[in-house]
Amino acid sequence: MAVGVFDSGLGGLTVFDAATKRLPDVPFVYYGDNAHAPYGVRDAQDVFELTEQAVNRLWDHGCNLVILACNTASAAALRRLQEAGVPEGKRVLGVFVPLIEALTEREWGDNSPPREVAVRDVALFATPATVASRAFQRELAFRAIGVDVEAQACGGVVDAIEDGDMILAEALVRSHVDALKRKMPNPEAAILGCTHYPLMENIFQDALGGDVKVFSQANLVADSLADYLERRPEMRGPDVEPVMLTTGDPQRVSDKATQFLRRKIEFIAA
Ligand code: DGL
Repeated sequence: MAVGVFDSGLGGLTVFDAATKRLPDVPFVYYGDNAHAPYGVRDAQDVFELTEQAVNRLWDHGCNLVILACNTASAAALRRLQEAGVPEGKRVLGVFVPLIEALTEREWGDNSPPREVAVRDVALFATPATVASRAFQRELAFRAIGVDVEAQACGGVVDAIEDGDMILAEALVRSHVDALKRKMPNPEAAILGCTHYPLMENIFQDALGGDVKVFSQANLVADSLADYLERRPEMRGPDVEPVMLTTGDPQRVSDKATQFLRRKIEFIAA
């Protein structure tokens, strides 16, 4: 048994990194579908099929719990996967809920009716597919009222990060923040609704200005996972060697991952 972490590519490493630091004794199996990234420009059916395939591979690797560390997959596939039914004793969780709980300052599992929260004007930065799904707004509406969300589809940012072109990624982030500010000049908070974006968090913060509170998922998801495993210890296990799997070129992906996390990361072919 182990905890599986899935992303279309390198973005889930931000969640993986925070989770391994928060839970050093938990073995993680990472699956990056780098050969098919980016997901954010694919249609929902395509994202569902790729996600289902990856999750099945993680079940085969002995994971009982799989975290979709990808908002695009969480938006397009999570509900369908859960409704179709996962194998006995297995669970698949997404990354929206911990973020929304932090934004709305609600306790994990608080099922009370939606209520007013401290923030009103919220900027959401995400992939085109996540923005089109409106999944974030739907989840938010279960928990909060009176929040105005302005979404910006950040085309190109994931491709630039996957290619290691951080100069292009920075230019794109700045232009997407400008575009958002034309629609919502003074957001109080900003959500980085793609797990690749924490790699550019300083640029988002700089472009938005110091007054804007930026929420990004890595630590929030790691904390939620720690809380979940405390309540459901059977979902973790010591029996599997941690491994990093990619559908892309293992050497290239290992180099990029090592560069991003500033520690040696070795991928093998999925
Ligand atoms: N990291 C994925 C997400 O959180 C994204 C990306 C993609 O492949 O477009 O949405």
